[in-house]
Amino acid sequence: MGDKPPLPEKFTQPGCGEFAEVAPYYDRLMSSVPYESWVDYVEALLQRHSRQPRRVLDLACGTGRVGSELIRRGYQAFGVDLSEAMVRYCRTQTPPLPAATMDACQLALAPQSLDFIVSLYDSLNYIIEPQGLQSCFAGVWRSLTDEGIFIFDLNTELALRAGLFTQDNLRGSDPLKYSWKSYWYPDNKICRIDMWFRWEGPGGPREFEEVHYERAYSESEIKQMLAETGFSNITAYNGYTFKPPTARSDRVFYVAEK
Ligand SMILES: C[S@@+](CC[C@H](N)C(=O)[O-])C[C@H]1O[C@@H](n2cnc3c(N)ncnc32)[C@H](O)[C@@H]1O
Repeated sequence: MGDKPPLPEKFTQPGCGEFAEVAPYYDRLMSSVPYESWVDYVEALLQRHSRQPRRVLDLACGTGRVGSELIRRGYQAFGVDLSEAMVRYCRTQTPPLPAATMDACQLALAPQSLDFIVSLYDSLNYIIEPQGLQSCFAGVWRSLTDEGIFIFDLNTELALRAGLFTQDNLRGSDPLKYSWKSYWYPDNKICRIDMWFRWEGPGGPREFEEVHYERAYSESEIKQMLAETGFSNITAYNGYTFKPPTARSDRVFYVAEK
């Protein structure tokens, strides 16, 4: 694998430089993502775990699609995300999602102020250092009420190893063209994705690139970290089902109760 690009020696700032250039095009890129069905599934998980939350945080909210859908369904929701560029688009959603720029590894929220924290679309895979993820879990724990609940999804090692992100739409007619190539680093459990984009719509043409990194965490690692934080009744589900994950799962949902 001589053409494999290197990994940075140190990931000091998780998410740094990612989701900056792509932010204005993110919702277009995700136009086929069934966010409403995802929120249906999350509500089904809440029901299964006997929770009826009111105050909700969309953690690593991106442009705010999940949080906006939660507001539409009557929840009192807001979002936080590391990328200022992504957060800017939260106010353009219908309904708009109030949101702030914040690192999930250094959550500065009022203690015991939230009933429910949700983080979807493998956002927490972007936290490369296990200590960072552990700090994130501690911040979530502090911010939840005693009856609080935390739900998030992660890409599995299988998904990151299998080259899920190696894809392009170069033969399509969309004015946003992209070509992505992913590389798997088994020793570090990290997937590097080199992303190339070309906007051919109004104001274009314009080309830009981003490099993203996601880390794979095993089910046992995550369960141990959540338990060490203090969470109980920690359950893993094969994505969008109520069944346990299998060796073929590419996305796992975790539910942790405070
Ligand atoms: C794949 S996007 C998903 C966004 C959104 N959750 C959704 O469902 O569309 C991943 C998001 O995680 C955010 N992110 C990555 N690392 C983060 C961190 N340490 N703290 C907060 N947000 C982070 C990125 O800025 C990006 O918006």
